[in-house]
Amino acid sequence: MNPILGIDVGASGIKGALVDLEKGKLVGERFRVHTPQPATPAAMATAFAEIIRFFEYSGPVGCGFPSIVRDGVALSAANIEKSWIGTNIEQVFGEACGCPVFATNDADAAGIAEMRYGVGKGENGLVLLITIGTGLGTALFYRGLMIPNTELGHLIWKNNKPAEAWCSSGAREKLKFSRKEWARRFNEYLHHLELLFSPELFILGGGESKYFEQYREIFDIEARVVPAQLLNNAGIIGAAAYAAESLNR
Ligand code: BGC
Repeated sequence: MNPILGIDVGASGIKGALVDLEKGKLVGERFRVHTPQPATPAAMATAFAEIIRFFEYSGPVGCGFPSIVRDGVALSAANIEKSWIGTNIEQVFGEACGCPVFATNDADAAGIAEMRYGVGKGENGLVLLITIGTGLGTALFYRGLMIPNTELGHLIWKNNKPAEAWCSSGAREKLKFSRKEWARRFNEYLHHLELLFSPELFILGGGESKYFEQYREIFDIEARVVPAQLLNNAGIIGAAAYAAESLNR
């Protein structure tokens, strides 16, 4: 099987790489461009196409996108330009780069990668992956099957604000609290998710998962909590896997 290009679209950067889906590994280096500001569909499409040109790629492209995604259409825009709402991501990016594009939520993409190739491999119960970055993304799996677009970072948490305004990395930086204080807040959030879903395993991904060892003892929930194994590449690998799975559907 030829490698497939996976692209992870984020609030600050758009990263792509070729992915060997038999191994669940990148082939060669990643290429990153800054997310244009304002991140309008037209500006983002130009940046997206730059990645395809860099790899001189033609073929299906998988795309993880930081919003609710249904049938290729963005249905929310928490940390991106509001004009994305109602925009067909697959169409806009596909026209800009001349390749068929398959789009899914970015946390769902990371979840697919961790469940197929990473720390979730062989897990058969309820698994909840949380990506901790500018926002909080979530991906829910039961017996390996994904329930897409769970958006648990938008659970109304305190002062009528969503959880991601309290315990994402973005919130930690904005509100200037220590990593320890962040972990304490995040632990409360985990307790709440445990009450609602009783997962057997939480997988923590995104930038913050790099520091897992510094705060793991603060978490005192029943379920196991582990850091993601594919770290920053999960979104890219999962996006490529999503494209391949969409083609075979
Ligand atoms: C968005 C999610 C996304 C997460 C991580 C949230 O603000 O609503 O769709 O998965 O950020 O990027």
